[in-house]
Amino acid sequence: MKIVRPKTLEDNLKESIKAIRSQTKLKPKIAIILGSGLGEFAETISSSTVIDTQSIPHYPHSSVEGHKGRLIFGKIGKVKLLAFQGRVHFYETGNIETILYPIRVAHALGIKTLVVTNAAGGINKQFTPGDLMLITDHINLTFENPFIDQNKSATSHQLYDKPMQNLIKASAQEESIPIREGIYCGIKGPSYETAAEVQMIRFFGADAVGMSTVNEVSLANAFGMRVGGISCITNLSTGILDQKLSHKEVTEIANLVKGPFGQLLRAIIVKLGNKF
Ligand code: HPA
Repeated sequence: MKIVRPKTLEDNLKESIKAIRSQTKLKPKIAIILGSGLGEFAETISSSTVIDTQSIPHYPHSSVEGHKGRLIFGKIGKVKLLAFQGRVHFYETGNIETILYPIRVAHALGIKTLVVTNAAGGINKQFTPGDLMLITDHINLTFENPFIDQNKSATSHQLYDKPMQNLIKASAQEESIPIREGIYCGIKGPSYETAAEVQMIRFFGADAVGMSTVNEVSLANAFGMRVGGISCITNLSTGILDQKLSHKEVTEIANLVKGPFGQLLRAIIVKLGNKF
């Protein structure tokens, strides 16, 4: 009798990488995760191979509007990169592995530098919708952790690489694009926060809040990747303004800033390609 061993995460990952490798041989140095409404940046990548996530076995799919599930392999200037267009959020599956999978794929492809972008609500009262914020650190309020069940932990005192923070700030200055800086708080979603929760998150010391990023960044750090993050502040959080928040508002503002945001990302990638 043949005993069939259940497939492990490593087996799945190997199959995913094989499917990707059958479509492109490009070896990207940098990966970038494009958040809500920021997907269009991918269209500016040259010599690209676009891989629909549906064609990659075991790869998670997103159901959120504005989140096309594609992996784009190509170049910005001379720098080879992989852009993840459209991320799957934890609340879509309730399984943390779905959100970690792109990071595992990037790591398996030998990528050592990661730029994470997201849409976030402004907690800091000085912020206005359309602001960009360099993420200097995060607070994980998702009550999830990539290392649960793995009998190990990974802690870094500097999740968001300091030289990369400086590089992002220098790029913004050179491109004359204003950038704030602050702490990102990750929540599980899918509901937006209540006014009382916003008050609590501000008291905790966060400047922005969103439904992604924190677990991905923790895993990328454990893999030894250099990580940088930028939030697009798409709205002010509940309780700051007396109005209801909608996903439409988030994508509308992300749409408005996609020009300067894309310009900044290109400048960052070129600089990263020269530096690392
Ligand atoms: N809260 C949580 N996630 C978000 C927000 C918000 O206000 N805006 C965009 N993503």
